[in-house]
Amino acid sequence: MSFLSKLFRKKPVLDPIDLSLVGTDMHSHLIPGIDDGAPNTEISIDLIRKLMGLGYSKFITTPHIMSDYYRNTSEGILRGLDGLREALHKENISVPIEAAAEYFLDEHFEKLIQEKDILTFGDNYVLFELSFMIEPASLKKVLFELQMAGYKPILAHPERYSYWHKDFDKFRELVDRDVFLQLNLNSLTGTYSPQVQKCGEQLIKEGLVSFLGSDCHHHGHIQLSTEVRSNASLHELIYSGKLLNQSL
Ligand SMILES: [Fe+2]
Repeated sequence: MSFLSKLFRKKPVLDPIDLSLVGTDMHSHLIPGIDDGAPNTEISIDLIRKLMGLGYSKFITTPHIMSDYYRNTSEGILRGLDGLREALHKENISVPIEAAAEYFLDEHFEKLIQEKDILTFGDNYVLFELSFMIEPASLKKVLFELQMAGYKPILAHPERYSYWHKDFDKFRELVDRDVFLQLNLNSLTGTYSPQVQKCGEQLIKEGLVSFLGSDCHHHGHIQLSTEVRSNASLHELIYSGKLLNQSL
């Protein structure tokens, strides 16, 4: 193949994949009014309808718990879930929906682990996220505490932590330590940055991704998820047999 034809070679355009092959979306912000996700019930319902339209058949929604910004509690989240279920019922929308949380790794999270006040899903999974600015010094310690307490940690959107983009061994180390990695579906569109997309594709290539999440906060995310369905790396991930979403 000549240099020019290589340069202009287009990636194959794939038919949009049916996200019913993923089954359960396990990362989203659909409980109204408690974090930076859906601001009211009407929008929550519409987001759920549209996510179902993409093929999802179950939701585990995960409001932020972060001591600085979102001081949500287990009780508050479960109360919000009850309200959302009631609203779905009134709209005749029949879909399984559960709630857990997206825990920001901070001292408050450590306190909750000690108190065993943690919302889990599936096989005792706990979804947690890190600072986007700097690798937390306490990461190893907190992971140890979590695992010693019997929880199975899932790191949310590892591809978005840019401080690891040039240190790919960090991801391999985490997987070696039995930390599950959850890729954001929309990272593959390049919406966060080209580097985030590249990192997500590399994680898929190396077989390091166990869960896929929409991380849906608003309608813009639905639009991106609609477009990303033709992405070749997404197809590779979904057909890899490595995703555990169906087990939830
Ligand atoms: Fe999130």
